[in-house]
Amino acid sequence: MSGPTSVLVETKERIARITINRPEKLNALDRRTMQEIDRIVTAAGDDPSIGVLILTGAGEKAFVAGADIGELSSQTPVEGTAYARAGQAVLTRLERLGKPSIAAINGYALGGGLELAMACTLRLAAESAKLGQPEVALGIIPGYGGTQRLARLVGAGRALELILTGEPIDAREAHRIGLVNRVVPAADLLPAAESTARTILTRGPVAVRYALQAVHEGLQMTQDEGLSMEAALFGLSCATEDMREGTRAFVEKRKPVFKGR
Ligand code: COA
Repeated sequence: MSGPTSVLVETKERIARITINRPEKLNALDRRTMQEIDRIVTAAGDDPSIGVLILTGAGEKAFVAGADIGELSSQTPVEGTAYARAGQAVLTRLERLGKPSIAAINGYALGGGLELAMACTLRLAAESAKLGQPEVALGIIPGYGGTQRLARLVGAGRALELILTGEPIDAREAHRIGLVNRVVPAADLLPAAESTARTILTRGPVAVRYALQAVHEGLQMTQDEGLSMEAALFGLSCATEDMREGTRAFVEKRKPVFKGR
């Protein structure tokens, strides 16, 4: 691989900040960038010193302005299917990492950029952010999970309006429809993401992992199957040292010291 890296990672106090770094192309996701995201996210998942991931984009204009259109334009149907499956796999690994991830959406989150943000556990947006799935304007459909995750997040009607018109929406509208958790001034975006990450880091790590698992696996199940799986994970959490420490600390009116076991 040559040239400067297209994804930067910096870890501080158990938070890995991952920055998509192709600002001259509005952080568009080419193959190499997707491979780097995959490598960095997988390594963060395996690293016990990392508890939360924050994903953001370099520069002031874009989180990620989509998959790299130059690369997309020359694909055959067979290549396109493989391309979508490979990208979906990267984003599903991020979604199911067992660690929370926060998308700090600092500008355009379009196409693959919105799909990347939707694979994160939470989404915070700067007031200036613009979010959308503009693929139909290029004669293609979202291929990194957009048709599935957007419909699950905001409902089929709103998802289809975004996907069929291809028109981006601003951060306030994204917040109104539940696509982002919170909107903050641009200067407050990373501090707000870090503050949310720090709050999660004070909670029982095993409980955080089981809660993520219960929600993501539950979304694939009937409600009865989901409730049964939830009860099993709840039972497992009752067997952890973290549970004993959390309940004891409450009774003793002190902060718990969780060990993640
Ligand atoms: N893939 C590849 N390159 C991209 C890109 C993408 N998805 N999005 C932006 N770029 C590149 C532009 O080609 C341009 O490169 P150049 O300077 O070498 O010509 C550079 O990033 C800056 O973008 P530009 O279009 O000049 O900025 P703008 O402020 O005028 O417009 C956008 C910003 C986001 C509205 C516009 O770039 C855009 O529509 N991008 C494509 C969004 C999209 O359709 N994404 C889904 C892809 S599936």
